[in-house]
Amino acid sequence: MSAGITKAVFPVAGLGSRFLPATKANPKEMLPIVDKPLIQYAVEEAVAAGITQMIFVTSSNKRAIEDHFDRSYELEQELEQRGKKDLLAMVRGILPRGVTCAYVRQPQALGLGHAVLCARDVVGEHPFAVILADDLIDGGERNCLAQMTALYSRLACSLIAVEQIPAADTDKYGIVSSTPLESGLGRVTAIVEKPAPAKAPSTLAVVGRYILTPGIFGILETLGGGAHGEIQLTDAIAKLLNSEQVLAYRFSGKRYDCGSKLGYLEATVEYALRHPHLGREFSAYLDAYCAARKTTP
Ligand code: G1P
Repeated sequence: MSAGITKAVFPVAGLGSRFLPATKANPKEMLPIVDKPLIQYAVEEAVAAGITQMIFVTSSNKRAIEDHFDRSYELEQELEQRGKKDLLAMVRGILPRGVTCAYVRQPQALGLGHAVLCARDVVGEHPFAVILADDLIDGGERNCLAQMTALYSRLACSLIAVEQIPAADTDKYGIVSSTPLESGLGRVTAIVEKPAPAKAPSTLAVVGRYILTPGIFGILETLGGGAHGEIQLTDAIAKLLNSEQVLAYRFSGKRYDCGSKLGYLEATVEYALRHPHLGREFSAYLDAYCAARKTTP
């Protein structure tokens, strides 16, 4: 039995250009789905998977993320004075006891691989998780990362979350080919970043959850800039295949691509529908709205 995964890297330095102007002064990871920012969903997933150190790879304009996971004495004092105990507990519970945050800067936008490399000194020689907060995953009882950390403790090798996508979309994802190992699990034989549909080896796409062995850092270091001078994590994983086993895991759960406006809206509607305080009212509103749309010429 191998040691568990205790560190997660959150690459959050991206510009968020797909959501401008909303992301001009606010990090895209702070966009809310109903009432919680995307990055908080990602951190909650990590906490529930047993991660105790959150490592954010940030850039300028991302101060709001640090503030979100820090104490806010002014707000807490105000809530305390007004007797708003529930809100106070909620604000204080954003980062559970025993969970720490570290922040490293990615000075230039040189790609996902470069962002992960920036976290090297904080991760050290440990296997670690990478979570892309854009990919919001509702895994039900056991979240996607928890499914993966459980697999890691059994198999002790790098793991990538994957799902089937429409053939026309291969140029939006890392695409893997794999040979079946057991139910939901395959051995990766090749991985390529955003191939054109005609060139894609399969329609099995990488989604934003990885567990990586520290061997990836040595490889990332040797990679020059690929497309647009960027260092792709996918290219490093392709090289890792020469020396280590990497598995593709078809997680159970539903992924929302919150890096796209449509995916973001889908997540907003579905999370609102099952929100404990809002769900019933929102559902009634939505039914009435849809019914009215059908009858309006
Ligand atoms: C990144 C990765 C890609 C992966 C995707 C998942 O791309 O480079 O391999 O499939 O995340 O969301 P991005 O969406 O940052 O362009």
